[in-house]
Amino acid sequence: MHYRTLGKTGYEISAVGFGAWAIGGDWGSVTDDEAMAALSAAVDRGVTFYDTADVYGNGRSEQLIARLRRERPEFRMIVASKAGRRLNPHTADGYTPESLEAFVDRSRVFLEMETLDLVQLHCPPTDVYYRPELFAALDELVARGKVRHYGVSVERVEEALKAIEYPGVATVQIVFNMLRQRPAELFLEQALARNVGVIARVPLASGLLTGKMSADSEFGADDHRQYNRRGEAFDVGETFSGLPFDVGLEAMEDLRPLVPEGSTPAQLALAWILSHDAISTVIPGGKNPDQVADNATAVDLIPLPDETMEKVAEVYNAHARPHVHHRW
Ligand SMILES: NC(=O)c1ccc[n+]([C@@H]2O[C@H](COP(=O)([O-])OP(=O)(O)OC[C@H]3O[C@@H](n4cnc5c(N)ncnc54)[C@H](OP(=O)(O)O)[C@@H]3O)[C@@H](O)[C@H]2O)c1
Repeated sequence: MHYRTLGKTGYEISAVGFGAWAIGGDWGSVTDDEAMAALSAAVDRGVTFYDTADVYGNGRSEQLIARLRRERPEFRMIVASKAGRRLNPHTADGYTPESLEAFVDRSRVFLEMETLDLVQLHCPPTDVYYRPELFAALDELVARGKVRHYGVSVERVEEALKAIEYPGVATVQIVFNMLRQRPAELFLEQALARNVGVIARVPLASGLLTGKMSADSEFGADDHRQYNRRGEAFDVGETFSGLPFDVGLEAMEDLRPLVPEGSTPAQLALAWILSHDAISTVIPGGKNPDQVADNATAVDLIPLPDETMEKVAEVYNAHARPHVHHRW
């Protein structure tokens, strides 16, 4: 494993982290035993950064991570959770100092942590970024010891650029992968200049970039790759990175020849992201030990050769750009 600094937090974290959404819910059935096996495999591979949220399985994901911390007490890991999506309706006005503190308190109970390592606003409505009083409220939670650091998880590049104007924002989580390249145009250099940690989410485009899917792939009714293809439940950019499934499959076929011999498409996808210096960590979701091992080994490919980076840019321009570049 390689380790990088997570921006202003100063945490040294693994370049490949663990995305704990799928072990919470929304991705078909994952039993507790399967989830714990995936998490244990991550620990064994030196993965020290775990990304979760209060809403993943309504707290189940946080509770599984708490169990991991209990079962592996010798292992020092950093846990990032998120707050805001429990609001119903999910509106900017719902974000108040009181609601944020209540969400943080719930995560402290579920994660069994007196002080949260990192809490991220969970893709709030854009207007939230224009309410400095909410960022002051987060500063206050830090001062009172409930949270050590805070950051934001954003949908759009413009939200990220606005968020990093607040000095307390230590990290930004954003969709960044071979099929979603716009963050590399301006945001990454700005984040680096301000020492803001960047957490790259949806790195495998919901599994599309593992090369295992085809037009015949089927997903259960409880899997967002079935029920959110048109953004019916949440931002469509979170499902297959916002690409129509058939377009994503075509792009994957053009990327396949770029996979180095002896490596996997997933490793290429993760190494492409980590070849950008501003990225602190990638957080692929993992449902079993094999996936976790495959993903962790991606660090062996960093940095990818310039020629590969150029060819990936060509594939992006040909397939993905017309669908995603103007949207996120
Ligand atoms: N709004 C937000 O803040 C937000 C939104 C989305 C995600 N996230 C965070 O980002 C993390 C990662 O994003 P994601 O989970 O949406 O998408 P992802 O990492 O692009 O895809 C994860 C899925 O791909 C499959 N997979 C993973 N590794 C594999 C491998 N080596 N070989 C084959 N298949 C593999 C697994 O599903 P199958 O085996 O079922 O195919 C897994 O659940 C999440 O877990 C979450 O922590 C945050």
